[in-house]
Amino acid sequence: MNIILLGPPGAGKGTQAKLIEDRHGMKQLSTGDMLRAAVAAGTETGNKAKAIMDRGELVSDAIVVGIIADRLDAPDVKKGFILDGFPRNTAQAEALDAMLSGKGLKLDAVVEMKVDDEALVERITGRYTCAKCGKGYHDRFQKPEKSGVCDVCGSTDFTRRADDNEKTVRDRLAVYNKQTAPLVAYYGGRGTLKSIDGMADISEVTRQIEDVLKGV
Ligand code: AP5
Ligand code: MG
Ligand code: ZN
Repeated sequence: MNIILLGPPGAGKGTQAKLIEDRHGMKQLSTGDMLRAAVAAGTETGNKAKAIMDRGELVSDAIVVGIIADRLDAPDVKKGFILDGFPRNTAQAEALDAMLSGKGLKLDAVVEMKVDDEALVERITGRYTCAKCGKGYHDRFQKPEKSGVCDVCGSTDFTRRADDNEKTVRDRLAVYNKQTAPLVAYYGGRGTLKSIDGMADISEVTRQIEDVLKGV
């Protein structure tokens, strides 16, 4: 199965993509994670992307379309993929359509995760991640079982994203509303769009996504 998780910053795309990966063997393809890895590695792409990401603007379509084109050819996406953070504008959605039809693949569902703006700001400003294994946490909503220790790998080292401050979150939200929200109509016109309530708690959102996956 091949799906898109579509939603604003902090909607829970990354959280749910990892849960779907564990359950269904599909592969999460997060352009944000891939770009952050490129920034950390100091590659040419990373150096170009860093300042743009810190401002909450979109990295060029050519860069992200190139990244996704490479990933779709890798063997680990044969069981399906979960696009997280891509496409983010109409040009990227059109490029994706062209790539998929060229490879004989199709999208089974586009899941829109709806969350209020104020909740998004609270989610993002409280988010942190295990520096060793990447497991995501939240100061209030998703604490590790033992405070300060990662549930998955036992590491005590955590990081926060450079773009996870209130000012940049509001800029990212404005970019989402202007450039990415039109994709709801883009996919809605073809019947692949399913909207779910992203305001519910994490397990209830998972249940709603499972319902969508059962229906395809
Ligand atoms: P990206 O990494 O994609 O960031 P984003 O879209 O802003 O989304 P987030 O990762 O912030 O949110 P999420 O929906 O994954 O939420 P999460 O599950 O972590 O992009 C970053 C930047 O890279 C962009 O600004 C841009 O510059 C660049 N970029 C990336 N892709 C691009 C593209 N295609 N084109 C151009 N540029 C691109 O959850 C958030 C927090 O809330 C967590 O702490 C979690 O524990 C908690 N939480 C999750 N679900 C719930 C729930 N149901 N209830 C309560 N808390 C919850
Ligand atoms: Mg994410
Ligand atoms: Zn860990």
